[in-house]
Amino acid sequence: MDYINLGRSDLHASNIGLGIMRMNQLSVSQAAKVLSTAIELGINFFDGADIYGEGKSDTIFGQALKEVGINRADIYVQGKVGIVVDPQRSHDGLVFGARYDFSRDHLVDAAHQELNRMGLDYFDSLLLHRPDPLMEPDQVASALDTLQTDGTARHFGVSNENSAQIELLQHTVHQRLLVNQLQFSLMHTGMIDAGMHVNMADDRSINHDNGILEYTRLHNITIQAWSPYQYGMFAGVFIDNPKFPELNAMMQKVADRYQVTKNAIATAWILRHPANIQVIVGSMNPDRLKEIVAAEQVKLTAQEWYDLYLAAGNDLP
Ligand SMILES: NC(=O)c1ccc[n+]([C@@H]2O[C@H](COP(=O)([O-])OP(=O)(O)OC[C@H]3O[C@@H](n4cnc5c(N)ncnc54)[C@H](OP(=O)(O)O)[C@@H]3O)[C@@H](O)[C@H]2O)c1
Repeated sequence: MDYINLGRSDLHASNIGLGIMRMNQLSVSQAAKVLSTAIELGINFFDGADIYGEGKSDTIFGQALKEVGINRADIYVQGKVGIVVDPQRSHDGLVFGARYDFSRDHLVDAAHQELNRMGLDYFDSLLLHRPDPLMEPDQVASALDTLQTDGTARHFGVSNENSAQIELLQHTVHQRLLVNQLQFSLMHTGMIDAGMHVNMADDRSINHDNGILEYTRLHNITIQAWSPYQYGMFAGVFIDNPKFPELNAMMQKVADRYQVTKNAIATAWILRHPANIQVIVGSMNPDRLKEIVAAEQVKLTAQEWYDLYLAAGNDLP
């Protein structure tokens, strides 16, 4: 396992982290098996959010951590807050928000509650989950100061933010924002498409994120890639999906070359980018986690990286 310092901080995290969004579907003993496998594989970074499973994922995670008997100081735990759940619209494990809320009181209260559900004393990092257009930067600054001073969170970051939004926040908050968690995968490549279509008139030339990839590299902010095997917005898994025959054929060809699985190749494709992106995987299957971590043995050639990008339906102008 390779490790990276998140945002060049002292958080020395595995470059493959485990997201616990889907952990609400497991029993505590099943979750304990997932966690112990992850740790055996060298994964030391776990990503949660107060809304996952409407809080149930936090609870199962915390109980499973206890069952496995993991020393808290040996792992990093990240939380996320800033979305208010709409229970009426949330169903079958899919959680929808009623609003985003970056008010001081909501952020502080939500972080305390998430930490309590996990049964932990502190988060190594805490992210603001989705930008709230009604955000008042002073309120966020006050929340982060409180959460740092009272020991709730040691470091902070954002998620799903563009570079201007980070600039605005960073201008006011006193802590350096270390992380931006964004969707990125072979089937979700907007962050790089626009850079290859500069000054063109096609759809891919549209810059949807204000140059976030370049911005984060310039400012030493680590991108965490969420949903590395999904297409669309939770539309499903692209691996072994008959909707994507060309991509699957190319992933299989490259996988055979390295004697790994397609999950490992989809992971290696993200890790190959020189921005040192951390991949946050959501598998709750210990065998699949082993397959995924085999990506660490794969260093794709530049041509393989481009071949996979093109097989995903992209073009080179
Ligand atoms: N910041 C944000 O807005 C945001 C949004 C979404 C997610 N996240 C974070 O990102 C993490 C990962 O998200 P995710 O769970 O959507 O990512 P993912 O790793 O792309 O998806 C995991 C799901 O795909 C299934 N899967 C993977 N490979 C498969 C294959 N070859 N065949 C069949 N099924 C396969 C897994 O099933 P098995 O369990 O059977 O392996 C699991 O249900 C979350 O836990 C969360 O921490 C953040």
